[in-house]
Amino acid sequence: GSKAMNLAVIGAGYVGLVTGACLADVGNRVHCVDRDAARLHLLRGGHLPIYEPGLDTLVARNAAAGRLVFTDDLPAAVADADAVFIAVGTPSREDGAADIGQVLQAAGDVARSATRDLLVVVKSTVPVGTCDRVREVVEAELARRGAPCELRVASNPEFLKEGHAVEDFQRPDRIVIGTSDDDDGALLRALYAPYNRNHDRLICMDIRSAEFTKYASNAMLAARISLMNELACLAEKVDADIESVRRGTGADPRIGYDFLYAGAGYGGSCLPKDVRALIRLADEYGAAADILGSVQAVNLRQRTLLYEKLERFFRGRLAGRTIAVWGLAFKPATDDIREAPSIDLIGRLLRAGASVRGYDPVAGANALRALGQDGFSIADDARAACRGADALVVMTEWREFKSPDFRGLAQTLRARAVFDARNLYDPAYVRSCGLHYEGVGRAAGRPAPRAAPAAATVR
Ligand code: UDX
Repeated sequence: GSKAMNLAVIGAGYVGLVTGACLADVGNRVHCVDRDAARLHLLRGGHLPIYEPGLDTLVARNAAAGRLVFTDDLPAAVADADAVFIAVGTPSREDGAADIGQVLQAAGDVARSATRDLLVVVKSTVPVGTCDRVREVVEAELARRGAPCELRVASNPEFLKEGHAVEDFQRPDRIVIGTSDDDDGALLRALYAPYNRNHDRLICMDIRSAEFTKYASNAMLAARISLMNELACLAEKVDADIESVRRGTGADPRIGYDFLYAGAGYGGSCLPKDVRALIRLADEYGAAADILGSVQAVNLRQRTLLYEKLERFFRGRLAGRTIAVWGLAFKPATDDIREAPSIDLIGRLLRAGASVRGYDPVAGANALRALGQDGFSIADDARAACRGADALVVMTEWREFKSPDFRGLAQTLRARAVFDARNLYDPAYVRSCGLHYEGVGRAAGRPAPRAAPAAATVR
């Protein structure tokens, strides 16, 4: 059974907030620590710094119940904690490696103020070996203080999908725990018991393997996407339809349907960064990262694909054109634009002298902040974005973009062209409405495969 614990979560960012709110919701007392005053002010006023479905009610409910507290007072938060989660950022360094400075800093802060035995749980995505460095920092600090208590370190990577994070936390497909001590494993097992009801989802291992599991998972996901994107480009050349191919391949349970969509390249705060970090890690240890290197290269190429399609369609003359872009977030159900392919595309269009009218259900303000207003504006709704535009590009598969009025669009869009980066639409139907249609990896709509060349032309 589970007993309510006192917890501190350092870093009230995306992962920290979801973790803190969910753990409070099952009865624990949670202090969320952040040093960003503006962020704390928002949170204390009942506002979220990010958009994440379900998180607002969760935070409100638990804050009102007094189980979830936002503070910048780390020593007070740590003072009576049974476990402290480190959920600070690990941004890419210039060379692609993950910068674990904030993790080590947080660990030092915890050790400086701990007054009783506790478990330090590293949730941030960190290179293999980071927990060992955390332990060194902690032990040095405790030794300096004359060892007033014992702190142990565990790894517990998160597998939260943005836009689905609360659900992923509450109904996890797996909970990975890396420990060096059975007691630490028992503490985490008790903490996660509410989410571990029907069958055991806890996967316990050594610390380094747990750290590695997170990178391996994201490498696998990124590889799937890049492989599909590479196949999509080939499908286009040979006049095959990647959507049909996806259905035909995904039916094999060893392959599966999920996460098999060609598109504008993977983005977000995890996949690009984690692939980079893993390549750097391999480099550091003199191991090969051939596949990972290609995964990354394919993704970079894919991110320019939509721009190239537009450039070709407008015969290189994008200056003076107005392009409508539906979807600015890197994926639906989030306002996150970090490494979003849409932001890349719009930047390129603006540099080529085009104007862009964007629309996104929630990410408009973030996009405006990132791109500025020079040639870029945000429309109030999807239709308004197309008014006066030459062509439409759909960059994110928000549900509200699934079945637009194509006949209306054929009237509105001056060049009558739709570019579908997510293969949301049936090419034949869109074309039947009088629009030029291009997806990713979709047959050009030529009548039939070319006949084999006549014998005379074969050398
Ligand atoms: C990811 C992992 O899924 C999650 O387990 C990890 O903890 C954090 O990183 P997230 O960044 O929220 O989650 O996004 P995800 O849904 O994985 O999508 C990543 C990117 O891949 C997005 O840009 C998405 O559009 C793209 N994608 C995804 C595709 O292009 N095709 C697909 O089939 C799936």
